Amino acid sequence: MTDSKRKILVTSALPYANGSIHLGHLMEYIQTDIWVRFQKQRGHQCSYVCADDTHGTAIMLKAEQQGIPPTELIAKVSEEHQRDFASFQIEFDNYHSTHSEENKVLSEQIYLRNREQGNIATREISQFFDPEKSLFLADRFIIGTCPKCKAEDQYGDNCEVCSATYSPTDLIDPKSAISGATPVEKDSLHYFFDLPRFEPMLKEWIQAGHLQTQVANKLSEWFESGLKQWDISRDAPYFGFEIPDAPGKYFYVWLDAPVGYMASFKNLCDKEQGLEFDDYWDQDSKAELYHFIGKDIVYFHSLFWPALLQGAGYRTPSAIFVHGFLTVNGQKMSKSRGTFINAESYMEHLNPVYLRYYFAAKLTSRVDDLDLNLEDFAQRVNSDLVGKVVNIASRCAGFIKKKFQNTLSSEVSEPQLYEDFIAAGDVIADYYEQREYSKAVREIMALADRANQYIDEQKPWVLAKEEGREQAVQDCCSTGINLFKIIMVYLKPIVPSMAADVEQFLNVEPFTWDSSKDLLIGHKINKFKPLLTRVESDKIEALQETSKTQVVEASKPEPETAAVSGPLADEPIADTIEFEDFAKIDLRVAKIIAAENVKKADKLLQLTLDLGGETKNIFAGIKSAYQAEDLVGRLTVVVANLAPRKMRFGVSEGMVVAAGPGGKDIWLLSPDSGAQPGMRIK
Ligand code: MSP
Ligand code: ZN
Repeated sequence: MTDSKRKILVTSALPYANGSIHLGHLMEYIQTDIWVRFQKQRGHQCSYVCADDTHGTAIMLKAEQQGIPPTELIAKVSEEHQRDFASFQIEFDNYHSTHSEENKVLSEQIYLRNREQGNIATREISQFFDPEKSLFLADRFIIGTCPKCKAEDQYGDNCEVCSATYSPTDLIDPKSAISGATPVEKDSLHYFFDLPRFEPMLKEWIQAGHLQTQVANKLSEWFESGLKQWDISRDAPYFGFEIPDAPGKYFYVWLDAPVGYMASFKNLCDKEQGLEFDDYWDQDSKAELYHFIGKDIVYFHSLFWPALLQGAGYRTPSAIFVHGFLTVNGQKMSKSRGTFINAESYMEHLNPVYLRYYFAAKLTSRVDDLDLNLEDFAQRVNSDLVGKVVNIASRCAGFIKKKFQNTLSSEVSEPQLYEDFIAAGDVIADYYEQREYSKAVREIMALADRANQYIDEQKPWVLAKEEGREQAVQDCCSTGINLFKIIMVYLKPIVPSMAADVEQFLNVEPFTWDSSKDLLIGHKINKFKPLLTRVESDKIEALQETSKTQVVEASKPEPETAAVSGPLADEPIADTIEFEDFAKIDLRVAKIIAAENVKKADKLLQLTLDLGGETKNIFAGIKSAYQAEDLVGRLTVVVANLAPRKMRFGVSEGMVVAAGPGGKDIWLLSPDSGAQPGMRIK
């Protein structure tokens, strides 16, 4: 072991208890599980905890629809989730629920400590209220007729038909999406977490290396527009925890959800000897704390969460590891294309080892989205795992069994080869540690190539036919088996079940990381059984068919309360692009023919642009530099072929390109530049 025993606590985001686990989720849980298994294999004290995220309006309404109490719904879902995770060999040390006693106690404690510190504020806010259900309505639960174009059945605060943005109170004939009743406006007292008080602390925290560079940069952008107080209360009826000293007020689900990490760990400590909660959560804790999450929930984890913890006198996370989103065949998962794939449907048709390997082969430490291309998936698994790795063992095992009673040579014949394979372990471990799994896999496959080359050169099948070459056959095949073993030690975090089969085949104790160094000499092995079969393309087709017909009930995020103005949380975090991607961008000169302020958005202007005949509606974050009325008649450059994007305020049909450091210094094209609307930019 290179470094001394570390104490590590790892979490994955808590899945919502209102939907099934799908391949998008699995990417995260598999990424985390590989990292945890690696740490354990290295001999560290590492705990992996998770839980179902059970509170909120969506779950309350769903239980009501099914005519069961929410507690019954969440119990059923928890069982399903845990079954799905286990089938993909995701091994939690504890799986709990946010609807638990531990979570109630900790959430209240964190709230009360923050209140003592003066971090909680209250004020009245006015909201739509469903008089029939006696329920305050979030924007997405209100529908009505667009005040501008009169399109019916438009949601909340923007029209999908004409892109107008408005306040829900401007809707003509608004209706509650839940009961159909006409909502009334009603005031109510809300509780706020005073995030702006933490601005200096957060600014420092964000720059202190706890976040990937891509994420830290994105957060700095959010900071520019200033932090806002965070609304942490919801009125009854709400499925959640009541706020202390505030009858009828409940913690918003996103307050108690991250506390669920602590609660699950607390629950584990109470069951397990030698694990001390305080060792991991005290302000001066030396233990490491890591949260694996998707890019859509970054600011809950990198702003609210560290602030809440700090305000309550707990330690803050060592790091937050953000991953991108899973696409299938290059596109968002879609039911009609059969690519919205549930964990359960996948298991009906395919081996989970394939998926674990494929994700590992593509995962990096960056926030990039990851594409599961089903053809590439089959090809990659077949050529690497089956064609390269398993092949080494199956080429050698037969001879060892037939000619040598399953016993390996009593002497090492290729010391240099072993040394190289063992030395590669440090580089591979480093890649795992850095979450550069694709690089680890590349190194491991290079070893597999070398092992196969060695066997190709030795040609045991030729030697076996030659007189007096018995020893050479045994030596070559024993070397092959030993190289195979080292490869499987390195692959174990990714394909644990396969590694267990190999341990059985080789007749050895479970592999630790250092098992790579123990050569099997004069050792008796067991009968070789096929370790993995090829991915068959008809199984993939069948899976897509199943996925078209299954009822999709993916978990939907709770509506967000914006703590920061500006881009929505699901805005992709920028990555480098290839030249071909760049070449696809259609840049045009456009003339601004109208510009308006956007309600509730500090940075945005709504622009109507003339692209030489074609008109586009675009939201641009340039308000800090320009007054809306000064923009009319000016020229700008737009990305004309950007897919329309639905924003909180309406649909944006392109992107305005401007230059400058930001703030007051953002420049558009000068009107006397000689450019004409519609002109293409090369
Ligand atoms: N309940 C919240 C998390 C609370 S953590 C204190 C939540 N739940 S979720 O079920 O919607 O998502 C769980 C995790 O899965 C999140 O990290 C999310 O980013 C991730 N993913 C959900 N869909 C995904 C993809 N399509 N691709 C990759 N990750 C995805 O958010
Ligand atoms: Zn409209």
